[in-house]
Amino acid sequence: MAVGTVLITGARDSGTGYIGSFTSLALLEHGYDVVIVDNLYNSSKVALDRIELLCGRRPAFYEVDITDEAALNDVFAKHPAIDSVIHFAALKAVGESSEIPLEYYRVNVGGSIALLQAMSKNNVTNIVFSSSATVYGDATRFPNMIPIPEHCPIGPTNTYGRTKSMIEDVITDHVTAQRNNLQKAGKPFEQWNGALLRYFNPCGAHPSGIMGEDPQGIPFNLLPLLGQVATGKREKLLVFGDDYESRDGTAIRDYIHVVDLAKGHLVALNYLREKKPGVKAWNLGSGRGSTVFEMVKAFSAVVGRDLAYEVVPRRTGDVLDLTANPTRANEELKWKTEMPMEKACEDLWRWVSNNPQGYRQDPPAELIAAIKKA
Ligand SMILES: NC(=O)c1ccc[n+]([C@@H]2O[C@H](COP(=O)([O-])OP(=O)(O)OC[C@H]3O[C@@H](n4cnc5c(N)ncnc54)[C@H](O)[C@@H]3O)[C@@H](O)[C@H]2O)c1
Repeated sequence: MAVGTVLITGARDSGTGYIGSFTSLALLEHGYDVVIVDNLYNSSKVALDRIELLCGRRPAFYEVDITDEAALNDVFAKHPAIDSVIHFAALKAVGESSEIPLEYYRVNVGGSIALLQAMSKNNVTNIVFSSSATVYGDATRFPNMIPIPEHCPIGPTNTYGRTKSMIEDVITDHVTAQRNNLQKAGKPFEQWNGALLRYFNPCGAHPSGIMGEDPQGIPFNLLPLLGQVATGKREKLLVFGDDYESRDGTAIRDYIHVVDLAKGHLVALNYLREKKPGVKAWNLGSGRGSTVFEMVKAFSAVVGRDLAYEVVPRRTGDVLDLTANPTRANEELKWKTEMPMEKACEDLWRWVSNNPQGYRQDPPAELIAAIKKA
C-alpha cells in the first residue's frame, strides 16, 4: 500500500515542470502515489515513460489550469486518498514578470488561492510550496545576513519575487485560520500544515542522462545557458556585471543539484505529516556560494574546453550574493545537499550532450540499457 497520495501541481512528468518531475520521481521511489496537474504551459507532450523507466511506477496526469478551481475539485474527487499537495505550478521568468505583472499575479497568486480553496473543500490539508530565495531580495542590505538565514527580512526586488512572498503570506494566513477555526469549534486542527521551501539555484540533471531541464525558448538560468554554449546552440554566455564586490567581481549564488532539491520536498512533506508543525519556512541550499566565473570554469572543465563569454553591464534587480544558511533544514529535516555543483555540471553535460533535442528525441539506447542493467 502507498505511504500516501500527493497531488503535484506543475510537473508534466518528464520534460517539463523541471523540479516537479524530479520531485514526482523521488516520491514514487519512496512509496507515495502521485497525481500530477499541469496545463502544459512550459511542457512538451512526452509520455510518462522516463519516470516509469527510472522507478517502474507511473503518476496519474490531468491537464488542468491551476486557476481552475472546479477542475481541481474534480481531480480531488477522483482521488480521495490525496491528503497533501506539492505546489510548483507558476510562471517564473523574472524579466517577463515586470512586463506582464497582472498575468504573474493571476497565475501565481490567483492559482494558489484556487488551489487552497479546492484543498479546503476536499479536506486536503498539507501544502508544500515552491518558494524562492528571491523573496529575501538584497540580503547584503543588513549586517550579518550572508549566508542568509530564514529570519532575514523579506524584501523581493521584482514582481516574480513579490508573487512568491505574497503566496507565502496567503498560505500562512489560511493554514493559521483553518487551525484556529477548527480549534475553536472543538475539532481536530493539527492536520493543517504548510512548508515554505525557499530554493536557492536549482541545477543539474538526472545522473542517468535521460531526464533534465528542457527549457522552451531562452533559458533563464546560468547552467542551461552554458549547456547551450557548449552544444553550439548559443555563441557565448553573457555575464551580467564583473564589478560586484565579490572575489572575482561576478555575482554569487548557491547552486543546488535538482536531485538533492527533490529529496528536500520529500523530507519536508514527511515532516508536515508526522510533526504537524503549522507553517514553517526552510531554506533549501548548500551553504556554498559560487561566482559566475567559478561556474563557467567548473562547467568548462567537464566539457573539456573553454566556453565563450562576454561581460556586459549588470541587470537591474540582480543582487550580489544569494547564499543559503541551510542550518534549519539540516537540523529539523535532517536534510543536506549531497551533490556539489561540480556533480551538477557533470550531470547536466551528460544530459545535454546526449539529448541535444531535449525531450523531442529518444534518449540514446546505451543510456537506456545502462538503466535496465542497474
Ligand atoms: N528553477 C528555479 O531556478 C527556481 C528557483 C526557485 C523557485 N522556483 C519555483 O519552482 C517551481 C518550479 O520551477 P521549475 O524550474 O520546475 O519551472 P517549470 O516552468 O519547469 O515548471 C513549472 C510548471 O508549471 C506549469 N504551469 C505554468 N502555468 C500553469 C498554470 N496556469 N496551470 C497549471 N500549470 C502551470 C508549467 O507547465 C510547468 O510544467 C516554480 O514555482 C518556480 O517559481 C524555481
